[in-house]
Amino acid sequence: MEMLVRRGFLWQSFEIYGGMAGFIDYGPLGNGVRRKLENLWREFFVINERAVEIDTPTIGIEEVFIASGHASSFTDVAIECEECGKIFRADHYIKEKLGIEAEETIESVKEVMETYDLRCECGGKFKHPENINLMFSTTIGPGKGKKGYLRPETAQGIFIDFKRLADYFREKLPFGVTQIGRAYRNEISPRQGVIRLREFNQAELEYFVDPRNKTHPQFERYKEQKIKLVDKFDNEHYITLSEAVEKGIIAHELLAYFIAKTREFLLKAGLKDEKLRFRQHKDDERAHYAVDCWDAEALTSYGWVEIVGIADRSDYDLSKHTQYSGEDLSIFIPFKEPIKVKKKKVVPKMDKIGPTFKEKAKKIVELLEKAEPNEKIELEVDGEKIVLTTEYFEIKEVEEEVHGERIIPHVIEPSFGLDRITYSVLEHAFDKDIVDGEERRVLRLKRWMSPVQVAVLPLLSKDEFVNVAKRISEMLKANGIFTEYDDSGSIGRRYRRYDEIGTPFCITIDHQTLEDNTVTIRDRDTTKQVRVKIDELVGILKELLNSEKDIFEFGEVFKE
Ligand code: ATP
Ligand code: GLY
Repeated sequence: MEMLVRRGFLWQSFEIYGGMAGFIDYGPLGNGVRRKLENLWREFFVINERAVEIDTPTIGIEEVFIASGHASSFTDVAIECEECGKIFRADHYIKEKLGIEAEETIESVKEVMETYDLRCECGGKFKHPENINLMFSTTIGPGKGKKGYLRPETAQGIFIDFKRLADYFREKLPFGVTQIGRAYRNEISPRQGVIRLREFNQAELEYFVDPRNKTHPQFERYKEQKIKLVDKFDNEHYITLSEAVEKGIIAHELLAYFIAKTREFLLKAGLKDEKLRFRQHKDDERAHYAVDCWDAEALTSYGWVEIVGIADRSDYDLSKHTQYSGEDLSIFIPFKEPIKVKKKKVVPKMDKIGPTFKEKAKKIVELLEKAEPNEKIELEVDGEKIVLTTEYFEIKEVEEEVHGERIIPHVIEPSFGLDRITYSVLEHAFDKDIVDGEERRVLRLKRWMSPVQVAVLPLLSKDEFVNVAKRISEMLKANGIFTEYDDSGSIGRRYRRYDEIGTPFCITIDHQTLEDNTVTIRDRDTTKQVRVKIDELVGILKELLNSEKDIFEFGEVFKE
């Protein structure tokens, strides 16, 4: 963290006013890394799926969160000290002080408090534990206005647009809808820096499927891959994904597919495989909307941290929004072939109805044809109640052609926390080694992920070096390469600075440049250098940045 702050990756928000826990600023380098992560995510979860990206407001009206269950159930149990007034999230405090995994209910927190005489750090006793809602509430409009909440997840914006989205996809399942944006949670006691924020960045995919077909055509690509799993009983497995599905450890193929794809994405972003695992939520741990959930967890200096949650939300959200909004959020699924169904139907007896009901007869016939078949049928005609028996109609069995059915799709949701992933990528990339007899700090980011991809360094800050260096820097920028020009300090110190921020290549303009129009390319990981022609620089750098090729393929080693 010290390096990340000093070099301009992450800063404490509101620093000059003393800061505030749960908020961070992305400095120029951190912002660069997170944006690249976002683009990679789009490539994986939008472009390469049958999926689209939308953007909805970060403030939601109260109705949305009443329907979704967040207004009543999106809570954590908090404990407040009677003496010093400090408030802690109960399960985190119990884990930290007693090493016990407490259930997140008032009863079980109370039981632990009593059994172990749990005290505050100041020695004071705690008050009765309380459920605290994590949403920030707000008022929309002046005066009393209308109650709203800052969204605690981007997902709800997708569910409430479902009718439009289904129409966009021509009512053909499966389809995915994504959103990348801010989410807000008034976390009780955020003490883990960037891991637990009150304003953070999510990238979420809501993948809508027919509940009878939770499969994915691309599962083939992953099914033989072995993966580290920790199931809800804390049993560890190292098995192939297809075996995990066959044995019922992962409930279905679609969850397994997204677990595998998430892993591929995280590895591509630069996470270390040996510091990555997938853990299933225990029955008492799942969010109110989930029937099954697997977290991708990264091992960091904060321990194992959830960075992605992959949940089967079933039809929970669409059913709730159907119920609360009154809008039908089902989808029509046509059968391959129409099927014939036998049905009981009411057939009016015209010869009886006409003479008895005269001018009302037409309306009665219409209503009878739509009525549920019963021995007695009650109708309301022009405000008058009329009860009819089988004297006026018959109940006949008829055969009808049915072309399909309406269902509420299920949702599988991979939900990515971009801040936690960015931090884990940076921590996994951070390394130290010895160069020229001195310790060196180096950020071994993937080349394409580095916020500064190339540094252009004149050996000396004299005009003849500086002019060429500036020209090269402009040329690289014009070709879309993230480039920084730097002529301050000794060349050795500049190399160290760029190693520390993860810049994969430094270009040095030296005496020979002035003679033969060549420069050196220095590789961050090996510190070795090759000499290449300026004319060929753009092509070579583009190839290097988009691959893991060795610089030796492009020139002779200049310095070991
Ligand atoms: P936790 O148990 O750590 O509070 P969660 O289970 O509430 O997390 P989800 O509701 O599944 O998390 O949210 C999806 C993703 O959003 C998480 O995997 C995580 O990466 C990210 N996330 C959730 N809460 C925060 C937060 N307070 N700060 C930063 N990222 C968060
Ligand atoms: N959308 C999952 C979550 O944020 O809870």
